[in-house]
Amino acid sequence: MTDAQTPAGLLIDRVSKDLGGRTIVSDMQLEVHAGELTCLLGPSGCGKTTTLRMIGGFLQPDAGAILIDGSDISRLPPEKRPTAMVFQNYALWPHMTVFKNVSFGLRLRKLPKAEIRERVENVLELVGLTHHIHSYPARISGGEQQRVALARALVLEPKVLLLDEPLSNLDAKLRVRVREDIREIQQRIGITTIFVTHDQDEALSLSDRIAVMSGGRVEQYADPRTLYRHPATHFVASFVGAMNFYTGTLGGDGFRLAGGAQVPVDSLSSRTPGEYEIGVRPEDVTVSSNGDGGAEASVVREIQRGHYKELVLDVGGDEMRAFVAPDLPAVDRLRVRFSRGVLYRDGVLQEQSESPVAVR
Ligand SMILES: Nc1ncnc2c1ncn2[C@@H]1O[C@H](COP(=O)(O)OP(=O)(O)OP(=O)(O)O)[C@@H](O)[C@H]1O
Ligand SMILES: [Mg+2]
Repeated sequence: MTDAQTPAGLLIDRVSKDLGGRTIVSDMQLEVHAGELTCLLGPSGCGKTTTLRMIGGFLQPDAGAILIDGSDISRLPPEKRPTAMVFQNYALWPHMTVFKNVSFGLRLRKLPKAEIRERVENVLELVGLTHHIHSYPARISGGEQQRVALARALVLEPKVLLLDEPLSNLDAKLRVRVREDIREIQQRIGITTIFVTHDQDEALSLSDRIAVMSGGRVEQYADPRTLYRHPATHFVASFVGAMNFYTGTLGGDGFRLAGGAQVPVDSLSSRTPGEYEIGVRPEDVTVSSNGDGGAEASVVREIQRGHYKELVLDVGGDEMRAFVAPDLPAVDRLRVRFSRGVLYRDGVLQEQSESPVAVR
């Protein structure tokens, strides 16, 4: 590994940006460890691309600083930054071969011909495209084009790799394959990477950590499992994965939904009785047909999802979604309990430090 490739940390230090009279990124704080892949995940317009453009130097922050390896790069022009960006639409030059496309940045830097060739060959080997070195972009597949775009960024040996929705032009199957390729390459060379996406599935399967953004702010920055199991806010809980939400009352007998049904809960983020909003993942809704003490539910609809079955239930007037085994026999009535729930008040997770206890 050359010095330029030694993993570098990235710090976004209280960065804000206004555009068109609106605050697009607001006092953003994010520390990305060296060699990690972080996804910026959030709905359209939440400021992901704006953040990425500030890291890459295509936009100046109004306030705050961006540091790579401890040095402030916020005032450097893009070409002076140790960053490289891959765009959604690849932006390959159609009239140039793969070699010419990938070597473009190095030719601009006027590196010796032999070094250019060696670096291009190495990076094409890394992304598995050696055999297409003389092909034109139009003659290779979408997935291969995206790997050329990746090679064109990596050949510059950036310390931080920036990817803006790099898979959105690919069909569903290819997306999964190329994202696995990207992750594999990223881990192999250990490059610090910021990956922008609005696809939660992509973020969960790729990331060391995910920054969930909303309205120019980071709502939560955590590893995929923590994000999924302990969503810090209602927004994160609803944006990442499916979640049933109910307002109601936690008491000794379980959680009473607004409609009146009393649902036993096995494990909760907090056990302090009171009014809450509860979030329950569909896979944490446990159903049984032999009536062992859960709340009564009627089955409104069954949806076969392949490796699981989704049940739409009516529980005392409240709708509930449950993911169950695909071969569960069809029935009209069931009993439900929650094997796990997270409690929110004013949209914020209520969590106790002790291990969750059963409430029956
Ligand atoms: N140059 C600009 N002038 C004014 N407003 C802008 C400018 N660039 C972006 N915006 C606005 O800033 C907001 C955030 O844009 P940004 O591109 O960062 O969102 P995003 O999270 O990347 O969304 P998407 O998922 O749709 O790509 C949007 O409302 C956008 O219209
Ligand atoms: Mg964007």
